[in-house]
Amino acid sequence: MPTSLAKIGKSFEKDLQGATDEKRLSDIRVKYLGKKGLLTSIRKSFRELSPEERPAAGKELNSVVSKLEKALEEKKSQMELEKGSSVEKGWIDVTLPGKRPPLGRKHPITQTWEEVTRIFMGLGFDVVEGPEVELDYYNFEALNIPKDHPARDMQDTFYVTEEVLLRTHTSPVQIRAMENHPPPISIISPGKVYRCDADITHSPMFHQVEGLKVDKNISLADLKGVLEEFVHQYFGEDTKLRFRPSFFPFTEPSAEVDISCVMCDGMGCRVCGHSGWLEILGSGMVDPEVYRFVGYDPENWTGFAFGMGLERIAMLKYGIDDIRLFFENDHRFLEQF
Ligand code: FA5
Ligand code: MG
Repeated sequence: MPTSLAKIGKSFEKDLQGATDEKRLSDIRVKYLGKKGLLTSIRKSFRELSPEERPAAGKELNSVVSKLEKALEEKKSQMELEKGSSVEKGWIDVTLPGKRPPLGRKHPITQTWEEVTRIFMGLGFDVVEGPEVELDYYNFEALNIPKDHPARDMQDTFYVTEEVLLRTHTSPVQIRAMENHPPPISIISPGKVYRCDADITHSPMFHQVEGLKVDKNISLADLKGVLEEFVHQYFGEDTKLRFRPSFFPFTEPSAEVDISCVMCDGMGCRVCGHSGWLEILGSGMVDPEVYRFVGYDPENWTGFAFGMGLERIAMLKYGIDDIRLFFENDHRFLEQF
């Protein structure tokens, strides 16, 4: 009996060495450990042994069986390991460049905000900010727009209560700045504003930048000079601008400034309403009435103010024909900036 077990062990080792795939491995398992396998038939032959001999023979057989099982398991996991690493060897190309994680960018309106701020700071303006939820007093009354004034209809207002509203423009910051600071003063104020207004060039929330300069002997020529300098720095020297007489209760005289439509080169298109021009801002000389509300002496001081739409200038600079693109957060759009 021991001789035949030893023989079987030897032939098993030989078979195992020759096994190159899992199919062969499973054949070996059947040959030795299967129902009709060599070791199983030895166990059957134990019937012929005397009761005294059986326990020792059984014990020996069991240890051989578990040795074989262990060897088969080891061979199998070795095969799996080799298979895995050879696949990987075939796939890894260490000369390939790594994958870059996608990089975020500043929103085009933030970029516009920063560029506009940089230009005006270069022209000597300080930056201040004011609240988006504003009192009727600052948004309208102190800007010479009393409750029953028809100019209130120019801006469709979101009211919170009768006296509190979402500011419709950045002009209330003019009042707050002058209240807190004696003349001379030279500020800009960028921020969000709100109006009940929506089409391809108007959005219910948009951004303006306010400008205010009050000093001795400030004239319309200073306003014109500053705005021309801004437009040329922002859009380029060749951009045409025109001052169109207008009306605001808080400036006198008033002008709106248009620049030549970059979408159609002034030929007329749906963005400029087929006029060839697009309005970018409202402006004028500060009305002496406004100085009365903040305690400035209109005999000694004169100044100008303007309010410009940030989306509007960004649309013109980048050739964007629908203002809603700024607020849809479509990555394909935002990635271009
Ligand atoms: C005003 O808001 C005045 N406060 C501007 C002003 C300031 C005049 C200081 C005089 C002195 P207006 O409503 O025209 O004016 O708006 C100014 C600019 O904001 C417009 O030229 C336009 O560029 C932009 N704008 C106005 N409404 C919208 C809107 N719904 N969506 C996007 N941009 C707008
Ligand atoms: Mg206007």
